[in-house]
Amino acid sequence: MTTLLTQAAVAYDVTDGVAVITVQNPPVNALSVAVRRGLDAAISRFAADAEAHIAVIIGAGRTFIAGADIKEFGKPPQEPRLPDLIQRIEDTEKPVVAVLHGTALGGGLEVALGAHYRLALPGAKVGLPEVTLGLIPGAGGTQRLPRLIGVDATLTLITSGRPVPAQKALELGIVDQISQDSDPRTAGLVYAQHLLGQGAVARRSSEMDAPGVAAGTLDEWRGKLAQKARGQLSPLVCVDAVEAATTLDFASGMKRERELFLSLLDSPQRAALIHAFFAERKVSKLPELQGIAAREITEVGIIGGGTMGAGIAVSCLLNGLDVTLIERNEDAAAQATTTVTRLLGDSLRRGKLSKAQHDGILADDFRTATDYKALSQADLVIEAVFESMDVKRDVFQKLDAECKAGAILASNTSYLDINEIAAITNRPQDVIGLHFFSPAHVMKLLEVVVPDATAPDVVATGFALAKKLGKIAVRAGVCDGFIGNRILATYRAAADHMVLDGASPYDIDRALKAFGFAMGPFEVSDLAGLDIGWATRKRKAPTLDPRARVAKFADRLCELGRFGQKTGRGFYIYPEGSRRGTPDPEVLGFIDDERADLGITPQRMDDETIVRRYMAAMINEAAKVVAEGIALRPLDVDVTFLSGYGFPRHRGGPMHYADEVGLPALLADLERYAEEDAYFWQPAQLIRDLVANGQTFASLNE
Ligand code: 3HC
Ligand code: NAI
Repeated sequence: MTTLLTQAAVAYDVTDGVAVITVQNPPVNALSVAVRRGLDAAISRFAADAEAHIAVIIGAGRTFIAGADIKEFGKPPQEPRLPDLIQRIEDTEKPVVAVLHGTALGGGLEVALGAHYRLALPGAKVGLPEVTLGLIPGAGGTQRLPRLIGVDATLTLITSGRPVPAQKALELGIVDQISQDSDPRTAGLVYAQHLLGQGAVARRSSEMDAPGVAAGTLDEWRGKLAQKARGQLSPLVCVDAVEAATTLDFASGMKRERELFLSLLDSPQRAALIHAFFAERKVSKLPELQGIAAREITEVGIIGGGTMGAGIAVSCLLNGLDVTLIERNEDAAAQATTTVTRLLGDSLRRGKLSKAQHDGILADDFRTATDYKALSQADLVIEAVFESMDVKRDVFQKLDAECKAGAILASNTSYLDINEIAAITNRPQDVIGLHFFSPAHVMKLLEVVVPDATAPDVVATGFALAKKLGKIAVRAGVCDGFIGNRILATYRAAADHMVLDGASPYDIDRALKAFGFAMGPFEVSDLAGLDIGWATRKRKAPTLDPRARVAKFADRLCELGRFGQKTGRGFYIYPEGSRRGTPDPEVLGFIDDERADLGITPQRMDDETIVRRYMAAMINEAAKVVAEGIALRPLDVDVTFLSGYGFPRHRGGPMHYADEVGLPALLADLERYAEEDAYFWQPAQLIRDLVANGQTFASLNE
């Protein structure tokens, strides 16, 4: 065996006539310039190496290659370019095998498509996720894959960005074989000897026939994607690139792919989506948690089995935790069991659980009780009872009396003061807010709300719990509404003000959906239940500043029992069983009445005006939230809105969007609006300071 390190990032050695080319660029073997150069050198060496008759490319560590190095995007390109390198691999006269383990994604899978044979290890996942970063595969993926597996299968893969497991990759024809070996090197050597024994030759996917496509297929894809993409460009550009594979020869198709890739590389959407990727990873890296170990959590108690409690229970159960749920009485406990059973049944139907897992959870991992003594062994208790300080006081007193020392006592309150809740107990260091979003077993966001006295390892446990539940945790300080709901209250008020001034709720929903939100604010209110906002408004009424402008039309709907989808009427009318509402002239009548009472002459507002005001209100409040330390950095606000509030991912979050628009333009808007309503539109001092210093929100993310 000969060993030679061609470059630190790629190793080359030969064993029994097989060249083993090992990519070693932890943690995910991204194709950095050092890896590209290393691979280039290794391929040249293999071509010239008389001892080596076949090569295997493997990844060191936990994965094959997770794709291009995302950190290099937006910087000056460095040679060799990935498509050229892959072409060199494919052009090699002697056969090359890619051995896929862990994740072979993006450029990683494209390297494998340039190889002549592909072997997957059990557990491997392969995919082309570029679309999720605002890109298309840019190193031959859109040209080689359709030749290998056809147009429809390719488009399914690259327009969703979702990876497929090894077995599916085998069925599609992306890989040639699945090895039963768990070590890539051993598996690769065995497969290479097998290929040599068979006299296998270099087999190039670029030389396969161009894929056929039935008339109308691509237009169907375009129609479907235009609806789903809500303004995101890359899914539709994927279709253009794959179309090129069907109409052009391989070299021309590659040229077309390059043009399309470069046009997206320059787009603000690419910058926004890559910001989102890194922000989601950075959000859990908190200086205060450096070196702090989380507490062990296996047994969870939940108080209250309503909408949130049941959802939180299911989230815990689906992720291997043991749950004891406390309700007020036997009837409520039975009701909670019914809800949990129904939600687990949904997971079973969707294939997220096997029948055995489902039955095991219900038999062994979940129980209800009405006596708090059942929580004596709980490591963590999450309270999700009615949003009332009196009710919560009673619950926390009981928890303090019954839970073991070191148990974490968490509240899922949406708005209440968690410092006050912590002070109810004799162990404020163990009390924290864990603010889940509805439906709690689905929504990704978890706000970890940190009161003054909380111990650092309790905060670390909140983050560890989020990871265990497959959620993204954001640290929030204590204030009315924390990060998300506090900002929501402000931009929601801005939407109500726009309605009073002339826009209809339907205009506003339409404009914001065109901007990229999944739903408009009035549709969201109808879905959540208008009674929730009504209760909050009543609770806040006594503390309302007399200068605040308050719209009454939503209260009027509630007084009429119109609570939204659940009552069939809210801002929209919902025909029996439908979740899609139609506008209601009666609602417009109520709004007209209110305008007349206030002496307002309604003004028409176009989509741009609506979006500008809505976003200005959101960003202005977000800047205050950052300045007060409620959110640690602007990126924490971005992640909150991307994972909890349906903010369009291709716009990167409100703070990234603000930088994109430009803070001077935003400040000019705020000052103009402040001339109409100085109380509501007071520009945040942080925005003034950033503009004065020529800085962006991004500068505060470091
Ligand atoms: N480039 C640079 N850094 C990357 C990276 C990449 N492609 N993929 C992951 N990383 C970094 C992460 O930022 C993180 O860094 P940190 O520790 O400093 O925070 C570290 O690697 C580990 O990543 P994760 O925390 O995400 O680890 P997981 O084990 O949870 O997930 C993964 C691993 C599934 C590979 C996930 O990281 C992932 O999805 N990565 C992105 C894959 C991707 O999108 N590839 C396509 C790139 S575009 C491309 O290839 C263009 C081509 O067509 C030309
Ligand atoms: P809900 O009304 O659906 O459920 C509350 C449950 O608590 C009921 O089942 C009730 O029987 C039970 N309960 C009341 N007092 C109790 C007690 N002393 N002991 C045991 N159980 C008791 O309310 P929901 O929507 O689940 O909200 C619960 C909490 O979660 C509130 O603090 C709310 O602000 C918060 N929250 C709600 C969200 C939502 O979208 N509904 C989102 C995030 C947080």
